[in-house]
Amino acid sequence: MVGGGKGFGKTILFGEHFVVYGLEGIPCAFAQVTTAEVKKIPGEKGYDLVDNRPATPGYKEEKKGEYLALISRVLEYMQIPSRVQITLGGDLYAASGVGASASCAASIARAVNDEFKMGWDDEQINKAAFEGETAGSGTPSGIDNTAAVYGGFLLFKKNISGGANKIEIVKIKKPFEIVLGNSGKTALTKEVVGDVKKLKDAEPDRINAIFKEYEQVEEEAKLALKKYDLKKLGQLMDKNHKLLQGITVSCKELDELVAVTKAAGAYGAKLTGTGRGGMMIALTPGKELQDKVAKAIEAKGYAATKTTLG
Ligand code: MEV
Repeated sequence: MVGGGKGFGKTILFGEHFVVYGLEGIPCAFAQVTTAEVKKIPGEKGYDLVDNRPATPGYKEEKKGEYLALISRVLEYMQIPSRVQITLGGDLYAASGVGASASCAASIARAVNDEFKMGWDDEQINKAAFEGETAGSGTPSGIDNTAAVYGGFLLFKKNISGGANKIEIVKIKKPFEIVLGNSGKTALTKEVVGDVKKLKDAEPDRINAIFKEYEQVEEEAKLALKKYDLKKLGQLMDKNHKLLQGITVSCKELDELVAVTKAAGAYGAKLTGTGRGGMMIALTPGKELQDKVAKAIEAKGYAATKTTLG
């Protein structure tokens, strides 16, 4: 039997980069997924890959080395002794900023688990997916793979002393619409995370003040989300974007997308994920606003994806 696995795409509503340093973040999975089929085949230990995922032009080429390492790490972690054929697919558009690599790692781990009848639970699958993530991010916080494995809204906090991370499921009243705007640029997480570290070392006072401000924003965001106060949530997303600009992880295209979506009526907008390319997220409750904001993005020549969170 062919093993099948799924990993959710994710957006980070609050906390990219800050979570690397142990601050709490709020990721949410969305409906689009990466799927993996894994089949034992004759031959030496290793794998053959067929990658049928839809992707931003250039994404697969730029990320090739990272993906080869990601798959090897997942297979090694799961101690797979045989050769496997891996076929990737699904409706998650592979691009920077939607957790494409994490959803890929999670889907492969799940499919391997099925094919080799390993009986691993979500926690173990999450550890395998995290191992895959280290290929791209160097020192990943674990937020992407956790969102890809568990789905839904989460409060996530990396345990920087090495123990178990905080993973808390947040239930919201009802799902709401968002639009993702694609800058069309691919960013390398390891590089951008490394640059934030350099900046933090070079200008500790300024950067630590931004981190402090983020903590306040996230505290309020958590409450707004639980109360389903989407106007407030949007304002806090705007603030979070400014803080991300402060740590230099935005770029011209993402800032333009944020401005365009705000002008079209989005409640809030920010970059999501690594930054310096990849995606931004606009909060657009209701189909009408969602359509309007997506059209405004497209009118500027960028690709827009409409989806819901929750
Ligand atoms: C990438 O989606 C999120 C980052 O915070 C890296 C990480 O948490 O590992 C930039």
